[in-house]
Amino acid sequence: MTDLLTIRRPDDWHLHLRDGAMLAAVLPETARHFARAIVMPNLVPPVVTGAEAAAYRDRILAALPEGMGFTPLMTLYLTEETDPDDVAQAAKAGLVTAVKLYPAGATTNSASGVRDFDKVRPVLERMAEIGLPLCVHGEVTASEVDIFDREAVFIDKVLDPIRRATPGLRVVMEHITTSNGVNYVKSGGPDIAGTITTHHLIINRNAILVGGIHPHYYCLPVAKREEHRLALRRAATSGDPSFFLGTDSAPHLTRLKEHTCGCAGIFSATNTMSCLAEVFDQDAALDHLEAFASLNGPAFYRLPPNVARLTLSRGDPVAYPATIETPDGPVTVFDPGFPLHWRVDA
Ligand code: DOR
Ligand code: ZN
Repeated sequence: MTDLLTIRRPDDWHLHLRDGAMLAAVLPETARHFARAIVMPNLVPPVVTGAEAAAYRDRILAALPEGMGFTPLMTLYLTEETDPDDVAQAAKAGLVTAVKLYPAGATTNSASGVRDFDKVRPVLERMAEIGLPLCVHGEVTASEVDIFDREAVFIDKVLDPIRRATPGLRVVMEHITTSNGVNYVKSGGPDIAGTITTHHLIINRNAILVGGIHPHYYCLPVAKREEHRLALRRAATSGDPSFFLGTDSAPHLTRLKEHTCGCAGIFSATNTMSCLAEVFDQDAALDHLEAFASLNGPAFYRLPPNVARLTLSRGDPVAYPATIETPDGPVTVFDPGFPLHWRVDA
């Protein structure tokens, strides 16, 4: 039995850091374990231009506690007005690592997202030319489509047509939640990858709805049936380079989750590495944790893996805080529902 596991320092390829007081409260939770993260641009107002991404990056770096090393990898929020030249310049200057596509209305702060995909064609073509990845929130928003079907329908109706129309476009299908997503990524060749969250490896839709409504397990895309969770587990733990970690750790104040209209988002930055080690251990796949958390992501993004290492050790259940405090109130930390035996060594 392995009781000690040393891997290259992980990266989070999908993270919400917010701004202001919330940013200051949650940033150390990620920076403690992760060297880099792809930072989502869904602020209010969203991060649309290269100049806005540079300003947001500076606010993140200013909020980083002394002595913590962390590199935010910035993204631009794709709108129907996005200027292909601005995107290309920001990429060339090293200011942005990807562009994020939110279908309008799909999730938190997505009102400025895309309604008419023809309008963003020039931007996507430019991105294909320069090799800049498109991060995709893969859900249709049409009210007649059942919320549990929105990912599968998106693949057929939106993502596959976009990819066929834009050869060479590099796509990250983010936070996949279905076997449809797994299969699409697996069969899609080298220009597509998929991120998987920590929580979608652990919960299925029962966690949200059985025995009362559990708002802290509500996120988008919503967790699906058990068969889908198992498909995600197999993909993540297989070592397949097409799949890597994007936690989608998304802080909301506890009182806004426990609300008549509770916000979507699960905050897992604090205990993600312990959760993942437990999951990979449960599936006898600890030897693939490094690929999922530290190697496959940089390979897809054409960045070097981190040189620094992270060591985890197995022992008595780990204590972690139930909440992270902010000046506006607490944020609830993801509860995996089982004890975590793997701790990240200091
Ligand atoms: O659950 C989610 N929360 N899904 C998203 O796509 C957005 C995120 C957020 O920003 O809170
Ligand atoms: Zn997200």
